[in-house]
Amino acid sequence: MDNFIFQNPVKLIMGRGMISRLSEEIPADKRVMITFGGGSVKKNGVYDQVKEALKNHFTVEFWGIEPNPSIETLRKAIALGKEEKVDYLLAVGGGSVIDGTKLISAGLLYDGDAWDLVLAGRPVTHTVPLATVLTLPATGSEMNSGAVISRHETKEKYPFYSNYPLFSILEVTFTLPPHQVACGIADTFVHVMEQYMTTPGQSRVMDRWAEGILQTLMEIAPKIRENQHDYQLMSDFMLSATMALNGFIAMGVSQDWATHMIGHELTALHGLTHGHTLVIVFPGTLRVLRKAKGDKILQYGERVLGITSGSRDERIDEAIRRTEEFFRSLGLTTRLSEEGIGMETIDEIERRFNERGVRYGENEDVTGAVAKEILKSSL
Ligand code: NZQ
Ligand code: ZN
Repeated sequence: MDNFIFQNPVKLIMGRGMISRLSEEIPADKRVMITFGGGSVKKNGVYDQVKEALKNHFTVEFWGIEPNPSIETLRKAIALGKEEKVDYLLAVGGGSVIDGTKLISAGLLYDGDAWDLVLAGRPVTHTVPLATVLTLPATGSEMNSGAVISRHETKEKYPFYSNYPLFSILEVTFTLPPHQVACGIADTFVHVMEQYMTTPGQSRVMDRWAEGILQTLMEIAPKIRENQHDYQLMSDFMLSATMALNGFIAMGVSQDWATHMIGHELTALHGLTHGHTLVIVFPGTLRVLRKAKGDKILQYGERVLGITSGSRDERIDEAIRRTEEFFRSLGLTTRLSEEGIGMETIDEIERRFNERGVRYGENEDVTGAVAKEILKSSL
C-alpha cells in the first residue's frame, strides 16, 4: 500500500424529506445563489421543496447549466453572482450543475476569465462555500472536489479541481430518463474500475470495497431496468455512485483514468453522454492493456463475475466479453461505429494527446498512439 492522506469533509444527508434541512444547514444571513439545469427539478418537486426550505433566506436563481457544463454558460452565472454579491452557492441537479457550480465558486473570487482557472490545472482553494442537492447518481461530484468543464467554442473538455461541497443532500427521484440511469450506472462502474483495474496486491480492503460496489451495480442494474420506482434499489444506486468517487476506494492504491480522458474527447467532439463514452472505451482499454492488467482482470473475473475455469487467456477474454455484455444490457451501444464515429475522430484524439504531450494510465503508458489503439479496438 502506498502512503496516503485521506480527508473528506462532506456531510452527507440522505433520505426522504431531507431537503427541508436546507433551512438549518445554510446560515440565515447568507446571500445564496441557487443553480439549476434545464428544469427537471420543476417536474419532480425538488424545486418546490428547495424554495420552501429557503423561504426565509435571501436567494437568487441561475438556470440553464447544461449537461457537460460550458464555460460560456458559467461566465454568465459568475457575472450574476458578482452583481448580486452572493456568498453561498447551492447547486441543485445532476453532476453537471454541481461541477459548473464548483467553477462558479472559484470564479466569483477571481478577477479574470474563469477559463484561466481550468487551463491552469491547479486546484483552486479560494472559493465561495458551496452545497448541493443531488438528483442524479453518477459522478460522485457531490462528495469530491473535482469537476469537468467544457468549452463549446473549441470543443474542449478538461478536469478542474476546487473545493468540496460543505454538505450534500442525496435526493432519490423517480423521474430520471432511462438513458441517464444507464449512463449513471455505467459511470459509477467505470469510476470503480479506474481505481481498481490496475495491479493486484496493493490493498485487500480497497479491492474488496471496489468489488462490493461492482457486484452491487451488477445486481441492481437489471432490477432497476424493470422498476425504476423502487426506493431501495435507487437508494443503493445513489450510494454506490457516491462511494465510487469520494476517495474511499482509492486509499494507497494506483489509479488509471485513461478511459475517462479518452471519453471526454468523445463528448467534446461528438456530444456523447459521459457514461456512454466510457462503455465504448473501457472494454477497448482492457483489450489493449490486457498484458499489464491481466492479473487484475483475472481477479475481477473470479471474484465479481465468478469465472473460475479455462486457461488464463480464456478467462481474460471471458471477463472482457462479459463486461461489454453488461454494458449492453444497460441499453447502451459499446462500439464507435454504432454511433457513426470513425477513424477521423480517432486520428483527431491521437493528435490532441500528442500535442498536449499527455500520458495517462497507472503506468503512464497511454500516449496518443495507445489511445488510438484502444479506440480502434472499439470501432
Ligand atoms: O438539466 P436538467 O433539466 O436538470 O436535466 C438533467 C440533464 O438533462 C437530467 N436530470 C438530472 N436529474 C434528473 C434529471 N432528469 C430527471 N430527473 C432527475 N432527477 O439529466 C440530464 C443529465 O444531467 P447531468 O448533470 O449532465 O448528468 P451527470 O450527473 O451524469 O453529469 C455529467 C457531467 O459530470 C462530469 C461529466 O464529464 C459530465 O460533464 N463528471 C464529473 C465528475 C466529477 N465531478 O467528479 C466525474 C465524472 O467522471 C464525470 O466526468
Ligand atoms: Zn465518470
